[in-house]
Amino acid sequence: MTKTTETAPLYDRIADWFDAHRGRDLREEGYLAHADEAASVTDGENGTLLDLGCGAGEPVAAWFIQKGWRVAGVDLSSALLDKSRARFPAQEWLHADMRSIALNRQFDAVLAWDSFFHLTADDQRGMFGVFAAHLKPHGRLLFNTGTEAGTAYGQMDGHDFHHASLDVAEYRSLLAKHGFMIMLCDIANPHCGGRTVWLAEYAPGTAAQQI
Ligand SMILES: C[S@@+](CC[C@H](N)C(=O)[O-])C[C@H]1O[C@@H](n2cnc3c(N)ncnc32)[C@H](O)[C@@H]1O
Repeated sequence: MTKTTETAPLYDRIADWFDAHRGRDLREEGYLAHADEAASVTDGENGTLLDLGCGAGEPVAAWFIQKGWRVAGVDLSSALLDKSRARFPAQEWLHADMRSIALNRQFDAVLAWDSFFHLTADDQRGMFGVFAAHLKPHGRLLFNTGTEAGTAYGQMDGHDFHHASLDVAEYRSLLAKHGFMIMLCDIANPHCGGRTVWLAEYAPGTAAQQI
């Protein structure tokens, strides 16, 4: 059978399996805490989070909700989104494709955690404009990638899930070009499942100096 680059229909099929197997040990917590410190959050206000590819809402969106953030979660898998909605009915859950969203509002943090890597290389390149369009100045962007340019398929519950990555230099240049100051780039962090993690602040006007 031909392998697909579209993962959401596969997540619909394995939603219960994925939810049961999604790690809840919060090994990503240190990174979430950096996003929680976004300088755009005004004193006394709750931060606002756009969680792209939010899945079933645990443990990532849940961590922010517990800290008082207001969350808008976006996912193309309705089965996973339904789980988020059932868990946190007071938050906003949008069945949409992260590649084409245009919400016309800006958030204190944008996350694409364990989701961005499912997009094709060209779709990843196109996401930096989407990130910028949805962040307040000094808002924070957190996402994870691979380390070298290429594609790979990984199996979950008998299905082949597409993954792609650009190389680290290209991510750096895309971030700078779109107005982001890189705050942290952890390459293949063994304490976070080998993820390469990016944290950046949206700083239009100043970020180009990095290139
Ligand atoms: C590995 S899960 C991660 C879910 C969640 N972020 C987490 O950390 O548990 C990847 C998620 O990305 C979603 N996804 C993949 N492509 C997407 C797209 N183009 N737009 C929105 N969501 C997408 C999938 O449906 C799935 O819920």
